[in-house]
Amino acid sequence: MSSLLVTNVGELVTNDPERDGLLGVLVNAALVVEGGTLAWVGPAADAPAADEHVDAAGRAVLPGFVDSHSHLVFAGDRAPEFAARMAGTPYAAGGIRTTVAATRQATDEQLTAHVARHVAEMRRQGTTTVEIKSGYGLTVLDEARSLAVARQFTEETTFLGAHVVPAEYAGDPAGYVSLVTGPMLEAAAPHARWVDVFCETGAFDADQARAVLAAGEAQGLRGRLHANQLGPGPGVRLAAELGLTAVDHCTYLEDADVDALRDSGTVATLLPGVEFSTRQPYPDARGLLDAGVRVALATDCNPGSSYTSSVPLCIALAVREMGMTPAEAVHAATAVGAQALDRDDVGVLAPGKRADFLMLDAPSHVHLAYRPGVPLVVGAWLAGRAAVAI
Ligand code: NIG
Ligand code: FE
Repeated sequence: MSSLLVTNVGELVTNDPERDGLLGVLVNAALVVEGGTLAWVGPAADAPAADEHVDAAGRAVLPGFVDSHSHLVFAGDRAPEFAARMAGTPYAAGGIRTTVAATRQATDEQLTAHVARHVAEMRRQGTTTVEIKSGYGLTVLDEARSLAVARQFTEETTFLGAHVVPAEYAGDPAGYVSLVTGPMLEAAAPHARWVDVFCETGAFDADQARAVLAAGEAQGLRGRLHANQLGPGPGVRLAAELGLTAVDHCTYLEDADVDALRDSGTVATLLPGVEFSTRQPYPDARGLLDAGVRVALATDCNPGSSYTSSVPLCIALAVREMGMTPAEAVHAATAVGAQALDRDDVGVLAPGKRADFLMLDAPSHVHLAYRPGVPLVVGAWLAGRAAVAI
């Protein structure tokens, strides 16, 4: 088993709570990987020898990004819908059905190739852990195969049969919820870790969401929710009441929602690519952080509301538009992203953790927001193996 030393790291973001500051930054640092996990982290001058050696030449090294929310299993795109939005047409959840039609037409091979392309795109931008949802199949077979495709790329797969009511059930939403909680869940569960519901006007209400989450939990899936994306609603409070790990979007919040999130400890995952791509107001990250809520950032990569695979873009938007400091945004896209997936092995660079990290062609994490749109990630390692070569 060969070991790897990465040394001359100008700034090492560890997120280690044992170290100083939110990011636990070490300057002039080094790390050593053995067998896929971190064996040693500390000052470069004290680093032990290793079989292989990477010289960071003063660049910054960070935990790999944990993108805790994406919808990569789809076919086609919706560029005309985006163009129309930019000309004034509002975003509507109904656009999901366009992608459902294209996804049902695609072969397993086409879907797999499509996910592979997007995961590679994410890796190049520093994402080392990605969650992938179903939700563009909406039949028993298409949801199960969407998750089987996603499972080839990540353990963090989420059953989102309750994305919208598909056209063929338009007159019978209760019948669709029965399908989702019955045969669809049964077919999906072997391929999924999580169950999710789009709890929003035009999608599913709180009672339907409760039913889907309860059925999922009975099959061993943990719950998470899409909520308060398009307007105020009951979803965030439901997530807090049920003690879910994370509730995502959180764009339209009332004081009671913020209080509930703070009291429950449920992670609020903010997805600024959505507000960028729909011209909606950005969520109030500053208010949430000041209230003591745990805030994660993720891309929501999907062809409708947020067709970006770029965590660096989300960090830059969160800093510029949502009142987060660069340190808070980086923490939200790494350590808190891991918390949003109930993972304690990633998002932190400390001995015993997975050696998932990235290197920037920049001296500090601040450059992720300071140099928006610049491809700064020059290396990414998954369990100590170079996934993006420097
Ligand atoms: O997370 N909110 C629901 N689902 C996606 C959008 C899906 C689409 O428009 O295709 C989201 O934003
Ligand atoms: Fe989403």
